[in-house]
Amino acid sequence: MEKRISIALDGPSGSGKSTVAKQIAQKLNILYLDTGAMYRATALKAISLNIDTFDEEGVKTFIDDIDLQIKYFDGTQHTFLDGQDVSEKIREPHVSMAASNISSLKCVRLKMVDMQRKIAQSMSCVLDGRDIGSFVLPNADFKFYVTASVRVRADRRYKELVAKGHNVDFDDLEKEIEQRDYNDKNRDFAPLKQAEDAIYIDTSDMNVEEVVSKILSYIV
Ligand code: DC
Repeated sequence: MEKRISIALDGPSGSGKSTVAKQIAQKLNILYLDTGAMYRATALKAISLNIDTFDEEGVKTFIDDIDLQIKYFDGTQHTFLDGQDVSEKIREPHVSMAASNISSLKCVRLKMVDMQRKIAQSMSCVLDGRDIGSFVLPNADFKFYVTASVRVRADRRYKELVAKGHNVDFDDLEKEIEQRDYNDKNRDFAPLKQAEDAIYIDTSDMNVEEVVSKILSYIV
């Protein structure tokens, strides 16, 4: 691809954004940036320092100097915190809620958004997140808002976690998804929101291939 392009893929937890974003990036041979992983790693840092994820003053003590790096190898994104590959650890359920909490802090968002914009300025990429089309890259070439019902999203997350060997309760997971939706949509600064010019896709009754081809039909 000649021209540098950016594709924003926003939506709530478990909407299938990351699976879809990965495949789109692969098909277009451009980078996939999972911005949620950055909030997850920040939450992990707070947990390791015993800092409450809502304590903005506490979080401010480390956020400016956080040693957070995104690297690409074996065809996937790896998230490094303080030199350690934490790609697996940040997927643990307790980190999900901590990431949702910490992502409401303005100091965290400003830091993450600055890193994301720098990456997007340097190469063509697909970014998945909550505020990419509405805040991080308002001039993205393509914007999509991907969602699905809470039940369908809980079911997808349940299968994903069980496949990884986690022991989870479906009802707890459903409640957690609802709580994260509420947090993500109601925070004061850069909440989860469909950008006015984003294309809305409800994936409740679609499989991954269908979503990918629908999105690609707008791009190529
Ligand atoms: O996409 P995810 O579940 O890995 O994201 C983890 C949390 O990070 C999610 O609850 C909301 C937050 N997040 C955000 O606020 N903005 C983004 N661009 C990406 C994620």
